[in-house]
Amino acid sequence: MHSEPGSTKFQIDLRRHLRQQNISDNLVHLICEIAEASKYVINAVRTGELGVAGTSNLYGEEQLALDVLSDRIIRKRLVHSGVVCTIVSEEMDEIFQVHTDSDGLYTVAYDPLDGSSLVDVNLAVGTIVSIYEGNDVLQCGRNQVAALYVLYGPRVTFVYSVGKGVHEFTMNHLMEFTLTRENIRMQPSGKIYSPGGQRNLYGKGVEKFVRYLEAKGSKLRYSGGLVPDLNQILLKGKGIFMYPALNGFPEGKLRLLFELNPMAFLMEQAGGAATNGCIPILDIKPEKLDQRSPVFIGSTEDVGKAVEYGNES
Ligand code: AHG
Ligand code: MN
Ligand code: MN
Repeated sequence: MHSEPGSTKFQIDLRRHLRQQNISDNLVHLICEIAEASKYVINAVRTGELGVAGTSNLYGEEQLALDVLSDRIIRKRLVHSGVVCTIVSEEMDEIFQVHTDSDGLYTVAYDPLDGSSLVDVNLAVGTIVSIYEGNDVLQCGRNQVAALYVLYGPRVTFVYSVGKGVHEFTMNHLMEFTLTRENIRMQPSGKIYSPGGQRNLYGKGVEKFVRYLEAKGSKLRYSGGLVPDLNQILLKGKGIFMYPALNGFPEGKLRLLFELNPMAFLMEQAGGAATNGCIPILDIKPEKLDQRSPVFIGSTEDVGKAVEYGNES
């Protein structure tokens, strides 16, 4: 590795960084495979046709929706990695068991293309991934051995944690992920808020909490994509994202296995918090694959206030 003239810094790539984490070679391999898959996903997002599933292209061939295509890209890579026994994804109704000679080592739960409805208006989207040892898919998020997301924005960034802090990598012109921020940390409170759902469907406590945020001068930052919205909070190091229970939707919208657990793991690793209003997201024992949960995630004091107001009504 050489440095550019005038620069004194070596670039650290993802594999090298993972190797420094004192984790198993299999986990290093798995995370690198996911990073490789994301290069095909971003290619599909950037160049794929925006047809919905079932429509056909110029040649009369069937087109896959981008989220279905992204799911296949990632699943194929996971199957071929040789270290995965069980796969669940937001795009699949059932658990996918990988038939390996030896028992696979990891279960992977993922949302292949979060915010897929934002692609046609050219907003940022992402992939969210959660990794467990063994083959139990319905275990608490606290048991994750790794969590990560890839953000497809003006730049492609890869943010991961194996339980030793949160680190950001950015894709360079050679499509390699190189370290851009190490040990991302959250401040106790901040002035950014990202509120999901319709405000007129919020409960009394959440409405009061929003007024509290407004009174303290918080700025609204909501794109409708969980990955860019949370990435903003994580990398600015402050603020809160929420998708509360809505009138008629007591579980909110976001999915525990594919969206909330990996994000909560990363947030806690950065010194922030994530709760459903009563208990930490990571302590919820999932009962089904498509389980949803309300969520308040971000700076600890802001999340604490959300819980306080929530319990008031
Ligand atoms: P997906 O595209 O995987 O179905 O998820 C979209 C999610 C998430 O990205 C975002 O935070 C939320 O939906 C936005 O929902 P609202 O438009 O209801 O606020
Ligand atoms: Mn999603
Ligand atoms: Mn999705």
